[in-house]
Amino acid sequence: MDLFSIKQKSIIKNANQRYNILSGATRSGKTYIDISFRIIDRLLSLKNKNGIAIICGFSYSTIERNIIIPMQQKYGGLVGNIESGNNKIKSTHVNIMGENFILFNASDKSRIDSIRGSSVKYAYCDEVASYDSNFFAMLKSRLDKTYSICDCTCNPHSPNHWFKQFMDSENIDKYVEHFCLDDNPFISETFKKNIKAEYENTIFYDRYILGKWVNAEGLVFTNFANDKNRWLINYNNKNHYRRINIGVDFGGNKSKTMFIATGLFYNNQNQNYEAHILEEHHVHATSSSGVDCQKIAGEHFEFFNMIAKKYNTVPVQTYCDHEINSINTIRNFHRTNGSKHFVDKADKHSMSLNDWIMFLNSLFNFDRIKISSHCNMLIDSLATLMYDINKPDCILDNNCTDVDSYDALRYGLVKIF
Ligand SMILES: Nc1ncnc2c1ncn2[C@@H]1O[C@H](COP(=O)(O)OP(=O)(O)OP(=O)(O)O)[C@@H](O)[C@H]1O
Ligand SMILES: [Mg+2]
Repeated sequence: MDLFSIKQKSIIKNANQRYNILSGATRSGKTYIDISFRIIDRLLSLKNKNGIAIICGFSYSTIERNIIIPMQQKYGGLVGNIESGNNKIKSTHVNIMGENFILFNASDKSRIDSIRGSSVKYAYCDEVASYDSNFFAMLKSRLDKTYSICDCTCNPHSPNHWFKQFMDSENIDKYVEHFCLDDNPFISETFKKNIKAEYENTIFYDRYILGKWVNAEGLVFTNFANDKNRWLINYNNKNHYRRINIGVDFGGNKSKTMFIATGLFYNNQNQNYEAHILEEHHVHATSSSGVDCQKIAGEHFEFFNMIAKKYNTVPVQTYCDHEINSINTIRNFHRTNGSKHFVDKADKHSMSLNDWIMFLNSLFNFDRIKISSHCNMLIDSLATLMYDINKPDCILDNNCTDVDSYDALRYGLVKIF
């Protein structure tokens, strides 16, 4: 078999412009060619030339995971570990075959200034579409040598994304290669079949399998909307839950306060863990004077007790929307009534909103989530959520859609697996 795919060979031959962009599907072979060839080739051809070499990524940990560790696996001791700044080199850096590469976490706005004043001979940009556009604008101005080169990789986003506009502009010296999953002959057909099934009927199929920069539009959970019964379950008092968590979204003037309880269930038949959405509760607790925290706390305590009794499992944790006053009130209510139930803020930042949509769609497509058929508000919410055509990749939040039930679901699900 060949050492490289057709697209990878084309990169070896042709990607020699100022900007070389590999855009497209996940697992399509973009990083592999960079690690096996591109980064080392640039290092050798720009060696002893003035200017710094840099590697940028969404965060230091993604740089380490996507680039440094795979390079260490390939080249052993020739690639060092990431080191923080010291007397000799002030910034976080890594030594690759004798050349020090300065690292930049490009999603951090405060890092923009740190690149000001540098002269960059080589920039490798992993996941470039995840950066702050100002960082990339600053980087462009630092590629000030006639021989400066910038190699970029990314997965597609919306067609209006700042990087897509840059990539399509006519007046730059560029080489662009688009990848789809089937461009990679080195991964198994079974893997391809599974990953296609995971993204089936979602926006992510077009972006991550076909590699297209397409808009997110229409229904968010299309498969669920078209065939709800497939994911609905009825109460079964024999089901044993390893853990039950509650998610809470607090309402404001227009939105609702919702509780959603999720149980972790081990399915002996297929030996998989599943998330079972067991119960929902809507608190009518807003008045002209604002949100009634005390009423919310009281109803939370009742909801908690009802679940403990009905499912014979005491809910472990409640994760809430970030409203510290209401969170404290719920926690205090439990304490006053002798319950040590854990109540805290939900982790909202470890997953982007897009990642959440992808995660839930995957759970649906692999039948790893089930919803109690009496959770009518949540069922309606998931079946009707739409993308907002005016805000790329955002869910439409107006009076016709119920984002509150969806948010409460996310907060409860966040630590269930
Ligand atoms: N030329 C090759 N020879 C052997 N295996 C390869 C080759 N190209 C790609 N692969 C295999 O395909 C996998 C996916 O490739 P790679 O990591 O480059 O995808 P990617 O396009 O960077 O994906 P993502 O967008 O998710 O980062 C690699 O882990 C490797 O196993
Ligand atoms: Mg990659």
